Amino acid sequence: MRNIQHLAEKINKLKKEKNAVILGHCYQNAEIDLVADFVGDSLQLSRQAAQTDAKIIVFGGVYFMAETAKILSPEKKVLLPNIESGCRMADMVDLKQIKEFKEMYPNVPVVCYVNSSAEVKAEADICCTSANAVHVVKSMNVPKVLFAPDKYLGTYVGNQLPDVEVITYPGYCPTHLGILVEDVEKAKAEHPEAKVLVHPECHQAVTAFADYIGSTTGIMKYAKESDAKEFIIVTEKGVVDRLTRDYLEKKFYLVCKRAVCPNMKLNTLEDVLRVLETEENEVFVDEEIATKARKAIERMVAVN
Ligand code: 13P
Ligand code: SF4
Repeated sequence: MRNIQHLAEKINKLKKEKNAVILGHCYQNAEIDLVADFVGDSLQLSRQAAQTDAKIIVFGGVYFMAETAKILSPEKKVLLPNIESGCRMADMVDLKQIKEFKEMYPNVPVVCYVNSSAEVKAEADICCTSANAVHVVKSMNVPKVLFAPDKYLGTYVGNQLPDVEVITYPGYCPTHLGILVEDVEKAKAEHPEAKVLVHPECHQAVTAFADYIGSTTGIMKYAKESDAKEFIIVTEKGVVDRLTRDYLEKKFYLVCKRAVCPNMKLNTLEDVLRVLETEENEVFVDEEIATKARKAIERMVAVN
């Protein structure tokens, strides 16, 4: 039998001894929160990674998040608890494909969703996350942008900014695109009073039902501050797990059982303990690529 409390105690002791910080995305198994110094969305985690003065960052998230932390803190050791935890959307665009996309539209600035590899970010003018994508594109003050890799987030941004033409790369998140209109209709029929909170990686036919569209922490903040008592959560299960744990007086319904990111769920407390002990699964980024990617990420972080 797993003793989660015992594992958490060991990790918390070791992390102090080693001057390590543990960052966790809100799609992680909720047990990661027992040891995480900070839990949040991609944007908040990027900021935390840039600010921490710990020697080691253990990143409870997927590969691109650990890479982003390494790019922002090259002098730190960044460890990924389970090295298999990649983002399926990020894997849909590689260096060759982003270059081909750029060649199709010469001189159009490139906005790169952080859910992408370091070498793809290095080809971008600026990065964005789901929390700041609209704001980032607006801040560029240009009539046209290329947006990669998420077609659906890019389309959402274009719909919010009618004066900007957003040309999207055909990537997507299998977890969010797997959420269907029928799933939302069924959940609404079962919970007619519930507010519908949707992540912008979903298909536009799904976001059309939303009372609120936002990043994972945007959704959590909305649920916390709303007077409503019931919510249909149209994003990954980890958000429902945390909301259910933290707001006992409210009810949260996951839109459908399939809304799970299998890769985010790979990291366990055992993995966190092992990488802290052995310092294995270190994430490296080539310095030349990191320098270019850092510019794109720092431009994003500078946009308020
Ligand atoms: P956030 O930008 O809301 O953290 O989401 C990241 C992600 O991977 C969504 O699938
Ligand atoms: Fe990537 Fe989708 Fe998983 Fe987010 S939910 S990490 S976009 S595969």
